[in-house]
Amino acid sequence: APATPQRIAVKAAHWLDVEAGRERGPVVVVIEGDRIKEVREDGQAPADARLIDLGDATLLPGLIDVHTHLTGDPTEIKGDYYEAILKRSAIDAAILAHLYAKRTLDAGFTTVRNVGADDYVDVALRNAIDRGDIPGPRMLVSGPAIGATGGHADDTTGFSPWIEFHTVDGVADGVDAVRHKVRENVKNGADVIKFMASAGVLSMEASVGAPQYTQAEMDAIVDEAHRWGKKVAAHAHGAEAIKMAIRAGVDSVEHCSLIDAEGLKLARQRGTYLDFDVYNDDYILGEYAKKGFPASTIEKEKLVGRLQRENFRRAVQAGEKMAFATDAGVYPHGWNGKQFAKMVEWGMTPMQAIQAATWNAADLLGWRDRVGAIKPGLYADLVAVDGDPLKDVSILERVGFVMKGGEVDKNALR
Ligand code: ARG
Repeated sequence: APATPQRIAVKAAHWLDVEAGRERGPVVVVIEGDRIKEVREDGQAPADARLIDLGDATLLPGLIDVHTHLTGDPTEIKGDYYEAILKRSAIDAAILAHLYAKRTLDAGFTTVRNVGADDYVDVALRNAIDRGDIPGPRMLVSGPAIGATGGHADDTTGFSPWIEFHTVDGVADGVDAVRHKVRENVKNGADVIKFMASAGVLSMEASVGAPQYTQAEMDAIVDEAHRWGKKVAAHAHGAEAIKMAIRAGVDSVEHCSLIDAEGLKLARQRGTYLDFDVYNDDYILGEYAKKGFPASTIEKEKLVGRLQRENFRRAVQAGEKMAFATDAGVYPHGWNGKQFAKMVEWGMTPMQAIQAATWNAADLLGWRDRVGAIKPGLYADLVAVDGDPLKDVSILERVGFVMKGGEVDKNALR
């Protein structure tokens, strides 16, 4: 007969029912193996379960960040941007990535969607975590982000055409070529497809938000990805590129900086998720000049940073679907939680910001049968904080307890 899986009971005075949008308590979460078996509100822990008593803490589902880049970190760039780029290969990225995965998990993020990594380092990282070789969050990965020659995904822009770069990237032009890239990414292990609908900040093209694919190319990417059962995330800052991506049928738009009223309306009609990385601007303006980034990059950030936050507020007021997306990797991994306070400063309630990082993020990932809430059948991914995050959401920057799949990653609460 199969051995009875180990049972654990996690007890806390308060918990967040993110599906209903309510704080409740007390609670005992009964865990069997890697799943939640029962959510008891009578305060009784089963006698045969190992008890983890978190006292007066508030228990939440493991947090989800739908936009990370775990294969790099700005702390790698120490004052010489070109040295960091030109003297490092995919192997350097692969050697360091496990550190960033662990920092992310320790910060309470038990699931991430990693949208863009050259050379499939993200696939290897996800697989190592899934095998249990190294600790880290559950990952959905995209492989190389697909983008036009000279555009946001083309890291060779601005360098001499005599230099040859050896890297597997996502540069592709034309309907057939972008379809091929989607298939190649799926073949090599991508869970999700990421493409660059517009120009960007931290890349060398002159524009920050102009469309970089034709409507036909965007349509082809989405059609092909969906045929293979993969969702699509589109990077887009500019108003026109955002609308083109939504019309193409993407599942989420990333950044959304200059979205206009028509874009907001289209997203609502189509059910498109809008993922605003509203913390990013503080870090880029504070640190990137010191890191030796070109002045043109800092100028581009100034064009979008403030407007992105104002448009985030409009999107909240319009009742858009929104998921928690930080772009961590542009700022240090493990700082993901700093974005909660920004989201509240710019118009969300603490509960809305937490829902964006749990139940709503899980919807965008297509993973509501796995993560995003504390309820029976889902993975036992739990975090706890000492205090009430609905009163002060910034306490989510200091998560005291993290459990992933029934295994305690850290417990600094007791
Ligand atoms: N990866 C993005 C880009 O380079 C970062 C944009 C950050 N700026 C912002 N305001 N969110 O375009």
